[in-house]
Amino acid sequence: MDLPRPELFDFFGVSMTHYFTDNWDNVQNFKARPDDIVIATYPKAGTTWVSYILDLLYFRQLLPERETTVPIYERVPFLEMFIPSYPSGTEAADTLSTSPRFIKTHLPVQLIPKSFWEQNCKIVYCARNAKDNAVSYFHFDRMENVQPEPGDWGSFLQRFKEGKMVFGSWFDHVCGWWEKKQTYSNIHYMFFEDLVEDTAREINRLCSFLGLSTSEEESKKIREDVQFDVMKANPMTNHSGDSTLDFSISQFLRKGKVGDWKNHFTVAQNEEFDEYYKQKMKNTTLQFRTLL
Ligand code: A3P
Repeated sequence: MDLPRPELFDFFGVSMTHYFTDNWDNVQNFKARPDDIVIATYPKAGTTWVSYILDLLYFRQLLPERETTVPIYERVPFLEMFIPSYPSGTEAADTLSTSPRFIKTHLPVQLIPKSFWEQNCKIVYCARNAKDNAVSYFHFDRMENVQPEPGDWGSFLQRFKEGKMVFGSWFDHVCGWWEKKQTYSNIHYMFFEDLVEDTAREINRLCSFLGLSTSEEESKKIREDVQFDVMKANPMTNHSGDSTLDFSISQFLRKGKVGDWKNHFTVAQNEEFDEYYKQKMKNTTLQFRTLL
């Protein structure tokens, strides 16, 4: 699809592109249902992985045909997305026939439509360490034609630090949601690194949060289905049907690792990043692992 790469602009203090703000009235006035489950992330923190786990937990047995016919991005609408030739995220969510609805968002916590809070919806927030998140975002922006031009790695990393990314600053995003969790009990805050380390444990934690009782056998099947290589080979989860992506440049499921940043950061970039990180994160209790 031939859409122009957009420019960033300031939107209520957050860097955004028009593809995520053009439908703002409908986003802000979105009517949540009490059983909606929101999957919130900074881009490239494991959204698709968590989405697929949730979808399998609720629907693998109930709607088996869904697993081979409906791509994950249709099962889980992207609330603020508004890209020509695609249904808007709000429309797609409004026309979902399944319940509960899963709704994906990359919005920072302060921009979430108020209806989700009023309805006390469950929210799963998945965070990923800044270094791997930046690397993944860089490769994604190379292949995703509706994202701004990434430039070279050095300039991308600089912009990442400054928060000049679509959906703003990684630091503000992960810390903002972490703070919210202290007062809003229906947030399950999870980490990409934990999912890589022990997927079974994280699925169990998700089940406890969601009040699901899943048999060991079922849980094992889900674990197999959500392995990186299995999801990468599955056309329903590898985004191969997404026409805005250029798979000759990179892959949507690219490496799925903790620590790939080591292959990208120079020693100097790493030292500078660590220094900057310390300053930005000095007032939070939030901790990340950059290696396992
Ligand atoms: P990499 O680019 O580091 O490979 P999102 O879904 O938020 O866009 O995140 C995409 C990132 O999650 C990509 O990271 C992708 O490979 C990774 N990912 C998706 N499914 C995964 C899985 N089953 N196991 C490990 N990583 C996964």
